[in-house]
Parts: sequence; structure tokens; C-alpha cells
Amino acid sequence: MASPIKNVVVVGASGNVGKEVARELVKAGFNVTAFSREGSTATFPENVAVKKVDYESVESLTSSLEGQDAVVSTIATVAIGSQKRLIDAAVAAKVKRYISSEFGVNSRVLGDAPIGKILRGKVEVLDYAIEKSKENPWFTWNGVSSGLFFDWGLRVGSVGFNKDTKTAIIYDSGNEPFQASNLDFIGRAIAAILSQPEKTANQYLSIASFNPSQNQILKFVEEETGEKWKVEHASTDEQEKIGLEKLSKGDFSAFSNFLRKHIFTDGAGRAVKGEGSANGLLGLQEDDLATTLREWLRT
Ligand SMILES: NC(=O)c1ccc[n+]([C@@H]2O[C@H](COP(=O)([O-])OP(=O)(O)OC[C@H]3O[C@@H](n4cnc5c(N)ncnc54)[C@H](OP(=O)(O)O)[C@@H]3O)[C@@H](O)[C@H]2O)c1
Repeated sequence: MASPIKNVVVVGASGNVGKEVARELVKAGFNVTAFSREGSTATFPENVAVKKVDYESVESLTSSLEGQDAVVSTIATVAIGSQKRLIDAAVAAKVKRYISSEFGVNSRVLGDAPIGKILRGKVEVLDYAIEKSKENPWFTWNGVSSGLFFDWGLRVGSVGFNKDTKTAIIYDSGNEPFQASNLDFIGRAIAAILSQPEKTANQYLSIASFNPSQNQILKFVEEETGEKWKVEHASTDEQEKIGLEKLSKGDFSAFSNFLRKHIFTDGAGRAVKGEGSANGLLGLQEDDLATTLREWLRT
């Protein structure tokens, strides 16, 4: 039987999802160390040790990883590529588990969809970890697809609803259920993965707090606020066109346009449930959509 995982590095533990991952790992009893760039002024959750590292140097990453059992990378999208050096360092330091910075749509099933062009970096990094695991069977990996960051997305607007102006943009019919996760739910999923290292080794796991449709959200917020919200309708085909135009000019904000096409198109089938969901394997209860929406409206 493999030895349990106790010491965990969270890369980017100051970030949107990294903070919640670090918090939930501390709560679950892991010893958590955050990796942070020299010169970063980031702040970290309580009871997390902080190590300044240089993501350019495999050697220094390796020495910073001595004695660690697992690395959870929640590194920023712009720095996805630097994970190959982290993986080399993790292997050199005999770290047993590497969780790659995925945390979005399932990047393993994109085929030749335009969104895949932008997510290629994530796919290559996870492929690299898988290759290293084949060479060194004690080195194991995970990728976690969480769908849209939901509570965060409500706040920053990526879900398409604005509570201040009581406006919403609904793509296509608005009836398609999509995979969505609250940030602390993702943190609990990571803690559950590392608590059961044998059961979860070498798997790409899709989780979801819930799978709402845009219309379900609209109905709830209208009922809760007692007002009709102003709704703008848009088409996901148009979003894809806009995305392709942006991408041809090297503008990677095309991602948001491709994402809408990917998740909101009628019949997209991105909901994560039943056998396609790792919630059961990880012992995770779905979150309550009404509670999440109420909390957002209240704060
Ligand atoms: N599903 C969704 O809706 C959704 C939304 C956003 C992001 N994501 C995904 O989730 C993962 C984490 O994203 P996030 O938004 O949580 O990350 P983030 O907050 O943008 O960044 C996380 C941390 O990465 C570190 N970092 C290292 N190198 C960096 C660099 N060159 N530039 C900027 N930061 C750097 C920073 O920590 P230090 O300053 O301490 O070094 C930063 O706090 C990514 O894979 C991203 O694509 C998904």
C-alpha cells in the first residue's frame, strides 16, 4: 500500500482557486506550503507556509520540493507552460502526485474545436505529466475539470449576469445545463483526491457543484429580487465567429467567446453527472444552487 500524502505544495495559492484549495487542504489536515514568485506581493490563507521560488529553474524548484508528497498546481493561465519545469522538479524530488492546473472545461475531449487551440498548453502539460508517470510509476497525476468557476464567475461577470444593473445575456435558448463549480467545492475535491491516493491515481476527474441552465439562474434571480431583469439574447455561433476573428489577430480574449460556444450551445452536453461525474468517487455532495445565488445577491 502506498504511503499517505501529508505534505502538499500549492502552486499559486494566492490565486482565485489556489486560495480555496490551500484553505480546504489545511482544514483537511494536510501540511500546506505555497509556492510564490520572488517579488510577488500576494497574500496567503492562514496556516500556509510560503516559499519563494523561481519557476525558471528546475534545480531550485527541486530543492524547494524536497520532502513534499504532492504538488497541486493552480498557477495562472499565463504561466501554464512553466509547469513542465515543475513536473521535472517533482519527479527529481520524488514527489508522488502532481495535479495539473486545469480547472475548467474537460480539455481531454476538445477534438479540433477552436477552444482547443487556446487550451493546447494545458493539454501538453498534462500529456507531459502522464509521460513522466509512465517512466516513473510511483509518480502519479490528476487533472480536474470543474467547469465554470461559479461563485467567482457571478462576481466577475463570466456567468453573464449583473446584479447591479439587473441585466443578463442569454446565449442561444438558455436551456442548456452547464458544468459549474464553486471555488471551495474545488478545494474540497482536491482534499478528497489527496486523501485517497490509490483510488484517485492517474485519473482525469470531472466534478460539478451543479449543472444549472442560464434560464434556471434567470428565473431564480428574478423571483428572488422580485423584478424582471433586462435580458439580451445572443447566439453562440456569433460568439465563435467573434472568437475566430480575435484569434486571427492574436487576441487570446477569444477564449471567452469560444467558451460560450462550447458550454451554452443547445445540445452541447457539458453537464457533468452520473457516470461522467467524479463527485461520487470523491464523496462530494452537490452544492445548493439557490444558496449560492442568494449569497451572491446578498453580498
Ligand atoms: N473555470 C473557470 O471559470 C476558470 C476561471 C479562471 C481561471 N481558471 C483556471 O484555473 C487555474 C488557476 O487560475 P486562477 O484564476 O485561480 O489563477 P490566478 O489567480 O490568475 O493566479 C494564480 C497564481 O499564479 C501565480 N503565478 C505564477 N506565475 C505567474 C505569472 N507569470 N503571472 C501571474 N501569476 C503567476 C500567482 O501567485 P504568486 O503571485 O504568489 O506567484 C497567482 O496568484 C488556471 O488553470 C485557469 O486557467 C478557470
